[in-house]
Amino acid sequence: MAKILVTGGTGYIGSHTVVELQKVGFDVVIVDNLSNSNIDVLVGIEKISGKAPAFENIDCVDYVSMDKMFEKHKDIDAIIHFAAFKAVGESVEKPLMYYRNNLVSLINMLQLMPIHKVKNLVFSSSCTVYGQPDELPVTENAPIKIAQSPYGNTKQIGEEIIRDTIHANSNYQSIILRYFNPIGAHSSAELGELPNGVPNNLLPFVTQTAIGLRKQLQVFGNDYNTPDGSCIRDYINVVDLAKAHVIAVQRMLNNKTKSNVETFNLGTGTGLSVLEIIETFENVNGVKIPFKIVPRREGDIEKVWANPTYANTELGWTAKETVEETLRSSWAWEQNLAKRAKAE
Ligand code: UD1
Repeated sequence: MAKILVTGGTGYIGSHTVVELQKVGFDVVIVDNLSNSNIDVLVGIEKISGKAPAFENIDCVDYVSMDKMFEKHKDIDAIIHFAAFKAVGESVEKPLMYYRNNLVSLINMLQLMPIHKVKNLVFSSSCTVYGQPDELPVTENAPIKIAQSPYGNTKQIGEEIIRDTIHANSNYQSIILRYFNPIGAHSSAELGELPNGVPNNLLPFVTQTAIGLRKQLQVFGNDYNTPDGSCIRDYINVVDLAKAHVIAVQRMLNNKTKSNVETFNLGTGTGLSVLEIIETFENVNGVKIPFKIVPRREGDIEKVWANPTYANTELGWTAKETVEETLRSSWAWEQNLAKRAKAE
């Protein structure tokens, strides 16, 4: 069976993807320096999929160590490159840290691919490349807007680096996946989002408030031009998202791509407001989320949701999980974390 290198494979989306890859029989090598994840994630992966992936604690920015890794794990067929920093606010404060980490690691992959005869790359991009789209739902052909943050810029530049590299060397191919807002956890509650410190993203903040780790959720703004005044996003189940990566890898390995670089939106096609997420979370889980409305967060986009038709028709992929089930899985995961913390 084909061998897949998953950088950032102990991270949130990475770990769920490793499970789905192993489920269909792929051999997986994870490279992760654990800078924003925990080694225990490997236990969760093994529990669910019955198989421990190979693991290398390496920083993808370290070219020499990556080169040795490719020597050791011969015959890698495809790379899924998740490893990156992703906190928007932090990227504004430490831009060079973001440019260096997110772009040098990608350049290393692209330089090492021909040396080690790896042809296929899946790249984690983001709906952030669209900024505030002029038309909703947003398609892959929507114009790329000036990035609102160095983080967003690393995704735009990353996409360009891939396109330029493949333009110059048609032996490569890449599938660029633009994620909307991934949420939820594995249905077993053995894997989920594990943010270090105070969460930046909505869902981990919601679950940590529900369990009592945080006193109150802050809702950033209720004066947007949306039905209830709070921002709207397209929240996509993380396992659904993980499955799209398996399909992308199979598409490349089976020579089904239509061009050497393909780009897909991965979203549900439905937008939900922050207040709708809170209300649905409370209803399906029977818990209260104390929250208060605070001023807008700098850099937030008012509303964005995907037109996922291209992924639906070309990849044969559709987001299947309901938001209700997804929010249940988030809560089950947070409760499982609390149980584990108590037992320690
Ligand atoms: C951002 C990035 C996205 C990136 C993701 C990863 C942009 C435009 N989006 O998504 O590309 O992949 O982070 O981290 O750069 N909210 C609250 N209270 C909170 C937290 C969030 O009200 O405590 C609201 C936000 O205002 C927003 C929504 O919840 O409306 C979602 O926020 P968040 O989970 O941080 O994701 P994005 O900012 O959409």
